[in-house]
Amino acid sequence: MDVEEAKRLAGIAACDHVSSGMRIGLGTGSTVHHTIVELARRQDEEGLEVVGVPTSEATAALARTLGIPLVDLDDVPSLDLVIDGADEFDPSFHLIKGGGAALLREKVVAQASRAMVVVADDRKQVDVLGAFPLPIEVTPFAAHTTVRAIAEVLGCEVRLREGSDGLVVTDNGNHIADAFTGPRITDPQESERSLLQLAGVVQVGLFVGMCDVVYLAGSNGVERLVNANGRMGN
Ligand code: 5RP
Repeated sequence: MDVEEAKRLAGIAACDHVSSGMRIGLGTGSTVHHTIVELARRQDEEGLEVVGVPTSEATAALARTLGIPLVDLDDVPSLDLVIDGADEFDPSFHLIKGGGAALLREKVVAQASRAMVVVADDRKQVDVLGAFPLPIEVTPFAAHTTVRAIAEVLGCEVRLREGSDGLVVTDNGNHIADAFTGPRITDPQESERSLLQLAGVVQVGLFVGMCDVVYLAGSNGVERLVNANGRMGN
């Protein structure tokens, strides 16, 4: 099975958690794209009734195109579930996110959700986080100073992410610093804590203790991995 098909199957499988009446956080990325398309299909063909809170302007645009009703997170008490992608997850279900530069809204939405379901292909499963450069959202003010401070804290190379038009600007008007730690983030909670002490760091793409279930797609199909310490444990 090719990667695109694997992503599609994982994205669709996660929709098993969704039923009418739910408020759903809608993640960002190419895997959860398939989840959102499937939710729209169920809405149109099976009468599913949900409202969504998007984690990025790109996801909001997709949901609007597909006719999924959206609400403002501030207008609802909580979300039943967020479904989102990940760049890496470790055996404790800790995540690196932010490859799509949406980590701040993704984290706010995940924190407002009663459960988090991740959709991924098997390239994302790792023993230790960090082969994927860690995305960190930083203020435009003194961004290079913050990059130097991050490099000092982590002891690795850190670069501001560039797109075709210069530095990447997030939906919140910030930049993304990518930290090339290598696979040695053994204590993600401590890494997150120390980075958040830097004033120019807005948020860190480490999601610690948030993910409850991963739908993991590989050559043998989709596997459901449940976090035994999570909120949807067996
Ligand atoms: C965006 C993210 C994405 O969820 C993550 O990059 C995974 O994306 P994809 O499913 O396209 O591999 O964190 O900020």
